[in-house]
Amino acid sequence: MALNTEVRKRPQLREVEGIPLLPAIGDHWNQIQKFEAKPDDLLICTYPKSGTTWIQEIVDMIEQNGDLEKCQRTSIDFRHPFIEWVQPPEPPDLDLANKMPSPRTLKSHLPIQMIPPSFWEKNSKIIYVARNAKDCLVSYYHFSRMNQLLPDPGTWKDYVETFKTGKVMWGSWYDHVKGWWDAKDKHRILYLFYEDVKEDPKREIQKILKFLEKDISDEILKKIIYHTSFDVMKHNPMANYTTLPASIMDHSISPFMRKGMPGDWKNYFTVAQNEEFDKDYQKKMAGSTLTFRTEI
Ligand code: A3P
Repeated sequence: MALNTEVRKRPQLREVEGIPLLPAIGDHWNQIQKFEAKPDDLLICTYPKSGTTWIQEIVDMIEQNGDLEKCQRTSIDFRHPFIEWVQPPEPPDLDLANKMPSPRTLKSHLPIQMIPPSFWEKNSKIIYVARNAKDCLVSYYHFSRMNQLLPDPGTWKDYVETFKTGKVMWGSWYDHVKGWWDAKDKHRILYLFYEDVKEDPKREIQKILKFLEKDISDEILKKIIYHTSFDVMKHNPMANYTTLPASIMDHSISPFMRKGMPGDWKNYFTVAQNEEFDKDYQKKMAGSTLTFRTEI
């Protein structure tokens, strides 16, 4: 009960290999890099706020063959260890991953160059999900307001600039999405887009099924689409992070399952902010074949 009323001091980030991360992650960096991936591991990797939890829930429902009760076995953060996460005094999530029987599904927000090398050596499968920068920024801003484990985002105006310079936890959105895009054909990586999943979940879930070499009935596919829709997941305590104390995530400030749609950025960016953002975006994304939809 004390946890719910405890006021936490917001952390300062510390650069690890040039990427701002929580100091505790830096303290465990050698251990994280030495993590031993296995050939049958599946890693779900994203820049924060790109639909990680959504894809985790879809993948778990596929792996449990649509058995809802099995997907309710524990909250999503315990079902899929977050390989770089360390939140003292809790043991690092690595310990949870090491104890988990195979086949394991794991989560990460690391940029490609920071992924523990064993994932490449063991040729584990990776699903990467990307979301357009403006919606990611809006979602990350609200998430930083409600998640006491992240630095205070400051004002909306300040945060737009912080995001553009990449001085946020897990670094630059631009470098993250481009880094993974450039690697997608060199490794076993399925690169998905949030906007595509929203537009046609059936088509995108079928891509995941093919990648995972799984076959399910039409009936189970329909069940997965329904149970992983925004409105259903929003009320699923095993997927909406409401099992965490308010001293960590305060959903009264902003719910984890907030809007769940492309285009919400239009409610936040001023015309001038949008123009400046676009100009800066063109520079940072110049030369890349990667394109995003900012609405559907
Ligand atoms: P918003 O803040 O824009 O609503 P992550 O899991 O990577 O932290 O991403 C969280 C974002 O994905 C939030 O975006 C959340 O609402 C959205 N999201 C989670 N589940 C979703 C679903 N089933 N459908 C659409 N969006 C979903």
